[in-house]
Amino acid sequence: MAHTAQKYNKENPFLTDLLVNIKLNKEGSQKDTRHFEIKLKEDEINYLPGDALYVCPENDPNLVKELLSLITLEHSQEAEFTRFTKEINITRASNKLFKLIEDKSSGAHKAAELTEKFNGYNLVNIIKSFSDIQFTSNEIAENSSKLQARAYSIASSMRAHPNQVDLCIARVDEEINGQKILGVCSNYLSSRVDLNSTNLRVYVHVNEKFRLPADKKTNIIMVGPGTGIAPFRAFIEERNCDRDAGEQVGKDWLFFGDQRAAYDYLYQEELESYKSKYGLEITTAFSRDQAEKVYVQNRMKENSKQIFDWLENGAHFYVCGDARRMAKDVDLALHEIIRENGKDAEAYIKNLKETNRYSRDVY
Ligand SMILES: Cc1cc2nc3c(=O)[nH]c(=O)nc-3n(C[C@H](O)[C@H](O)[C@H](O)COP(=O)(O)OP(=O)(O)OC[C@H]3O[C@@H](n4cnc5c(N)ncnc54)[C@H](O)[C@@H]3O)c2cc1C
Ligand SMILES: NC(=O)c1ccc[n+]([C@@H]2O[C@H](COP(=O)([O-])OP(=O)(O)OC[C@H]3O[C@@H](n4cnc5c(N)ncnc54)[C@H](OP(=O)(O)O)[C@@H]3O)[C@@H](O)[C@H]2O)c1
Repeated sequence: MAHTAQKYNKENPFLTDLLVNIKLNKEGSQKDTRHFEIKLKEDEINYLPGDALYVCPENDPNLVKELLSLITLEHSQEAEFTRFTKEINITRASNKLFKLIEDKSSGAHKAAELTEKFNGYNLVNIIKSFSDIQFTSNEIAENSSKLQARAYSIASSMRAHPNQVDLCIARVDEEINGQKILGVCSNYLSSRVDLNSTNLRVYVHVNEKFRLPADKKTNIIMVGPGTGIAPFRAFIEERNCDRDAGEQVGKDWLFFGDQRAAYDYLYQEELESYKSKYGLEITTAFSRDQAEKVYVQNRMKENSKQIFDWLENGAHFYVCGDARRMAKDVDLALHEIIRENGKDAEAYIKNLKETNRYSRDVY
């Protein structure tokens, strides 16, 4: 299947329904990773494995109402509610807002100090800290950043799930500087979008840099811990469709990791059924099931010779998930594996990249 031209975008998102919202982690997990299914109309909006879906989130209505109760409104309550729900980032202050506070306090508060002091704070808690300053809704709106759409790696093949797109999303719930941070979009999808309510705004981001090999007989190695599993579920489903259609398809090898096997093995049943039905190879790394952390890159190194042989045989190597730590360490491990097997790692990996055989979707 090829893409039809994408007619939906940031300015003109596709309005649709959330069909399914399931927590993938079992009771007792420290994480909340969700599987979402969203309705699409195949002839209107479609995607290929490797693409991403942008979701336009809305702020928590209770936070919006509280914010509006603290400032002078310059438009009707209804218009301000819509504006602050859909357009303005109210969970994190921009530098411009701290500069506004500096100006309104005639320099009594310095923007640079405020940025540090209020790291982690949302606009409600910041404004409450300056009860002697009155803000108008236009001042807040004009000195805040826009509420941005969030990207998610698509976790389904449209051939396996016609008229639908699946996502795998970690709900952000953390604390910074004593402040509770509930990620806007992950919490919007997890708890504020009613099923089948037709008010979800999405659009597809085409990602030609993260594609299955054109030659289906090529083997693939996929490294996707945590939500990094998302595009690989799509890859595996797509290749299983080819297998069902009687095509000759190479082998699929997935490295998956998360905290604990009993609670955090995302899509376990499905993946294991593919192991028995289609020969999917799965290597897992559950980091918190033993005293010493075990990560996907440790498992890669244990399988050094086999990974090298697959690469020598033309395999494509893919990585998805955390950019800051995991993808860097996986890259180091890949270098080590190539070196261990007697090759110049820099040159070998440069060649993999140049021939589109080493692709990353990291965030
Ligand atoms: C190409 C791409 C693909 C992606 N695919 C996936 C995927 O498949 N699954 C997935 O779960 N995610 C994915 N992501 C990440 C996703 O886009 C979002 O970044 C993620 O869901 C968090 O969004 P949020 O709105 O819930 O959190 P946000 O509200 O954006 O918060 C995110 C982080 O910002 C910081 N923050 C927020 N508010 C403050 C504050 N007031 N002060 C200081 N720091 C603050 C915190 O560190 C917080 O964790 C992908 C990203 C990209 C770019
Ligand atoms: N603040 C950050 O630096 C950071 C980084 C990544 C993800 N996140 C956020 O965490 C949430 C959940 O993300 P996620 O579910 O996709 O998974 P994740 O947090 O990336 O965790 C998945 C697995 O990767 C392990 N891991 C941690 N460091 C690693 C490394 N250097 N190399 C390889 N594996 C490593 C984790 O182990 P342990 O947890 O046991 O160490 C866990 O077993 C998301 O909201 C994401 O945005 C934050």
